[in-house]
Amino acid sequence: MEISNGKSGVKFFNRKQIPLEMHKVRIVQSLNLVPIERRFEAMSQAGYNTFLLGTKDIFLDMLTDSGTNAMSDLQQSSMFVADDAYAGSQSFTRFEKSVLDVFGKKIVLPVHQGRAAENILSSAFVKPGSVIPMNYHFTTTLAHIQLRGGKVVELFTPEAMKIKSSCPFKGNIDTVRLEKVIVESGPENIPFIRMEASTNLIGGQPFSMDNLKKVRQLADKYKIMLVLDASLIGENAYFIIKREAGFENSSLNSILLQMCDLADIVYFSGRKVTSSRGGAICTNNIELYNKIKHLIPLYEGFLTYGGISIREIEAMAQGLKETVQEDVVGQSPSFIDYMAQELDILDIPVVTPGGALGCHIDAKQFLSHIPQSEYPAGALVAAYFIASGIRGMERGTLSSIRDENGNDILSDLELMRLAFPRRVFTLSQTEYAIDRLTWLYKNRKLIGGLKFVEEPPVLRFFTGRLEPIGNWPEQLLEAYKKDFGNSL
Ligand code: F0G
Repeated sequence: MEISNGKSGVKFFNRKQIPLEMHKVRIVQSLNLVPIERRFEAMSQAGYNTFLLGTKDIFLDMLTDSGTNAMSDLQQSSMFVADDAYAGSQSFTRFEKSVLDVFGKKIVLPVHQGRAAENILSSAFVKPGSVIPMNYHFTTTLAHIQLRGGKVVELFTPEAMKIKSSCPFKGNIDTVRLEKVIVESGPENIPFIRMEASTNLIGGQPFSMDNLKKVRQLADKYKIMLVLDASLIGENAYFIIKREAGFENSSLNSILLQMCDLADIVYFSGRKVTSSRGGAICTNNIELYNKIKHLIPLYEGFLTYGGISIREIEAMAQGLKETVQEDVVGQSPSFIDYMAQELDILDIPVVTPGGALGCHIDAKQFLSHIPQSEYPAGALVAAYFIASGIRGMERGTLSSIRDENGNDILSDLELMRLAFPRRVFTLSQTEYAIDRLTWLYKNRKLIGGLKFVEEPPVLRFFTGRLEPIGNWPEQLLEAYKKDFGNSL
C-alpha cells in the first residue's frame, strides 16, 4: 500500500500517514517538565484556570496559537530593517503591498490585535437594537457587539454541533435561516453579516467557498455589508483546496483573493494569521474607510502603526506573504488531523474532521458524569494539566456568559482545545499528548466538577478563579503516582 503525503508528493510504503515537515528547527527554547506534585500545586494556585498558570510550570503550552506560532527566518530578519517612524513609515507601505497581494484590498488600517478591530467595527456600525447574523460567535466578538447594544444571531448548520462527523464544512452558515433572519429583523437593522473563517469555537471548522458566495448573494440582495473575520483564513483556504470539489488544483493565493473579494471588510488578528503580533481592518471601499479611519488614532495609534511597533508591522508584512504557502498554513492542520485520527482510533471523543488551530476533545462525552453547570471542559483542562504538564484551553460553558437572571448560558459544545501553534511542536511531543490523554481517559471517573470563587463580569474565563467540587485533584494525583511511580 502506498500513501502519498499531501502536496509534497512524497510517498511512504506501508506506513501510516504522518505529517511531513517542510522546515527545519534552527532556534530552540528549553522546556521544563515539573513533577506532578508541583503541577497539582500550580493548578490550585492558578484557581483552576489555565490562563493563570506561569510558563515555568508548563511543559507543552497548547493554550493557543495566538502570538505563539513560530516565526520564519525571513520574518525575524525583516524586523531589523524596520523603518521606525510615527507616521508614513516604509514598513507600512510594505505591509500595504502584502495586504494587496494576498487579500486584494487596497486600504488597510492597522490595529494592535484582532479584538481591537472588533472594537472599532462595533463602535462604528453597531448600535442598540442592531442584529448581527454570523456562522458562530467568537468570545471577544460577542463581547464587543453586546457592549454596543447589539445582538448576535448564530446560524450554524446542525452538522456543526456533531462531534463525530465527516462533514467537510461544519463552519458553513445556514443560508435559508440567514435570509429568514434578514427578512424578520429588517435589513436596516443589520449593520453587517459576519463570517468567521475556520470557526474557532466549534473546533476550527471551515466554511466552503460555495457557502461564502451564497452569503454574498444575500448581502447584495438586501444591501447588507459582509464582514470576514480572517484570523484563521489561511487554514480555511487550505481546507477548501483539500475538501471542496473544483478547488483541488487552485493555489492558496487565488483562494484567499476570491474569499476576500466576496467581503466588504476583512479584519484579522495578526497574532494568528501572520504569525506575528498586531492585526488590521482591510477594505476596497473608500466610504467605509472614511467611516472608521478616525477611530484608529483614537483607540490604537497613528494610521501607519496602529498601536504596535514598526518591527511588528514588518513581521506582519512578511508573515502575510508566507500565508500563501501550503506548507506553512497546512502544518498545524496536518498535526491536528494526525492527533484527531489517533484519538478516534482509541475511542477518545474528539471533534472530527480535524480543523484548524487545535485538536478539540469533547468534554461532554469524556466527562459525561459532570453536569454542564459544573464546567466539564474546565475540569478536563485542569485534570489534563495535572496529568501531563500540558496547558490546554477551556472552550465551553466557562467561556460563556450569564443571562439577565444570572444563570449560566450553557455552551453548545464543551471542548478542551489543545492548540497546535504553527511549526512549534514535534511528533514525539504530540505522541506524549496522546499518551497522557489516554491515561486520563482510563481514569476519567476520578475527575469532578469546578465552581467559581471569583467571577469577573465580562470575559470571565480569562481571569476568573475556581475551585474543585470535592477532593478529586488529590485522588487523581494518587492514581497517577500509583501508575507512574517516581516518573514525572
Ligand atoms: N477572531 C477570532 C476568530 C479569533 O480566534 C480571535 C482570537 C480574535 C478574533 C481576537 O483576536 O486575540 O488578536 O485580539 N483568538 C485567540 C484564541 C485569542 O486563542 O483563540 P486577538
